[in-house]
Amino acid sequence: MVMNNQTVISLFFLLGLPIPSEHQHLFYALFLAMYLTTVLGNLIIIILIHLDSHLHTPMYFFLSNLSFSDLCFSSVTMPKFLQNMQSQHTSITYAGCLIQMYFFKLFGGLEIFLLVVMAYDRYVAICLPLYYTRIMSPKLCVCLVLMSWIFNVLYSMLHTLLVARLSFCKDNVIPHFFCDMSALLKLACSDIYINELMIFILGGPLMVIPFFIIVVSYVQIVFSILKVSSTRVIHKVFSTCGSHLSVVSLFYGTIIGLYLCPSSNNFTVNEASISLMYTVVTPMLNPFIYSLRNRDIKEAIIKVLIKKISL
Ligand SMILES: *[C@@H]1O[C@H](CO)[C@@H](O)[C@H](O)[C@H]1NC(C)=O
Repeated sequence: MVMNNQTVISLFFLLGLPIPSEHQHLFYALFLAMYLTTVLGNLIIIILIHLDSHLHTPMYFFLSNLSFSDLCFSSVTMPKFLQNMQSQHTSITYAGCLIQMYFFKLFGGLEIFLLVVMAYDRYVAICLPLYYTRIMSPKLCVCLVLMSWIFNVLYSMLHTLLVARLSFCKDNVIPHFFCDMSALLKLACSDIYINELMIFILGGPLMVIPFFIIVVSYVQIVFSILKVSSTRVIHKVFSTCGSHLSVVSLFYGTIIGLYLCPSSNNFTVNEASISLMYTVVTPMLNPFIYSLRNRDIKEAIIKVLIKKISL
């Protein structure tokens, strides 16, 4: 295709990760196992919460939503990545690339919003226990989840449309294992000023404000349990909030690491490896972090197993 004397690129090549070829099979097996664990772990959480009526509370509805978005988040990148590791054809069409970018942003953003909603839920449960059922009404829960969806659908749409108006002409090798927006912007021939402006104006607050709300919620929680000073209560609060905090720190830790990481010319190797952390590892660990530390989930698993055996 030729347009305005420039070749328009209709195909991109994903460079993948810098894995030495002799270790290719080992890493393939590792990533496949991680992906299957992610799918299985999150599916189990969703099904358990659906089956067990004791888990029909806002906290578990949000957790089930988080598992769903984890599942989708890793399914956006992993199957294609695994396929590319197997074959020599690492190409992805222009449209495929934009679609992948769109859903990556959508589910990544959804994950952050759900973490905020879950932090707020814990804040109300612990700091305002008498009002919990009144504040966290089913209507508000649905509303919070719906708003997260609507916002992220529009936000990812905006960025995807802004990338869609760029032209790509020279370089079509993406030094990453999926179509990452910042990697794509580096390949563009046209002016990316508006894209960068939008990332700066919207993307910055979108990372910082949720983080701020989460931190404030947990600080309030810590203050309120310090006032109680009953070891039993403190233990109970830490066992539910501890798992939330580990997920939040895992997710934000890697993202912050990505931004603080000195961006040299060879940035992409680092960047791709670090984003492996939040695209593959975090969605895989979330179900385990919740279920291993959570007595309700453990009981639900045992109940379901007993029902199966006695049938
Ligand atoms: C997500 O949360 C809403 C609101 O609590 C709930 O009605 C819905 O069933 C949840 N969805 C999933 C997939 O768990």
